[in-house]
Amino acid sequence: MLSRLISSTRGIPERSDVPQHIAIVMDGNGRWARKRLMPRVAGHKRGLETVRQVVRLCVEQGVRHLTLFAFSSENWRRPEDEVSFLMQLFMQALREEVKKLHKNRIRLRVIGDLSRFDGELAETIRAAESLTRDNDALTLTIAANYGGRWDIVNAVNAMLAAHPGRRDGFGEEDLAPHLCLADLPEPDLYIRTGGEQRVSNFLLWQLAYTEFYFTDCLWPDFDSDAFARAIDSYRKRERRFGRTSEQLVAAPLKQD
Ligand code: IPE
Ligand code: IPE
Ligand code: MG
Repeated sequence: MLSRLISSTRGIPERSDVPQHIAIVMDGNGRWARKRLMPRVAGHKRGLETVRQVVRLCVEQGVRHLTLFAFSSENWRRPEDEVSFLMQLFMQALREEVKKLHKNRIRLRVIGDLSRFDGELAETIRAAESLTRDNDALTLTIAANYGGRWDIVNAVNAMLAAHPGRRDGFGEEDLAPHLCLADLPEPDLYIRTGGEQRVSNFLLWQLAYTEFYFTDCLWPDFDSDAFARAIDSYRKRERRFGRTSEQLVAAPLKQD
């Protein structure tokens, strides 16, 4: 397991036809609802069904890790009633789905600054994580109140605390273990639905060599065909990690 956790900047991660780790910015719920003259929150509700379907597809197709951006550290800027609807939906989904996830051997984790969530939600998250912690069919990570900058600053603080008094400078390998998702391979594929072509403060460090796939498809419309198109696009990419195409042809698996 550990041999697969090669940092993309310090070695060459293994390549496989099926991405081992997919990270998704599930965007476009509000627009999906507005197009149908429904309130924005109806889009979030419908988006949850897409989550169920994408989780199923990942398990079926042998994707090992799926990381979903559910709520960014900047999403608190939204109208209060939308934020509170999203929190309730998250809580309800955790409560309703956790048994099913467990039955399907899915390990659920939540990354982000949980200190801003109310106590009941934080407790529900901890209970779901502890119930599913030994499952191995898929790691499903939900990023909630997550920000890539928060993640990096948090990791820097943890690194400094782990090395009190050290003055000789730090390297990537000192920081990396303190970042969220440090125990998973870096994402192979980043998908963003909803037509915007940006990262919106998602996994800033972890996406260093990830393949990006943007689609206009709104998240509630992201079905198995749309998922298949994303995987297909990924398969056609040449992942060079800084090398030339010629080097890849000569020694595709050479590590450094
Ligand atoms: C993504 O959909 C879900 C969250 C950010 C919680 P949006 O709510 O951003 O939908 P659009 O982008 O406004 O259509
Ligand atoms: C990104 O979507 C965050 C999530 C999907 C949770 P946003 O809708 O918040 O992103 P911006 O504001 O368009 O960049
Ligand atoms: Mg959006």
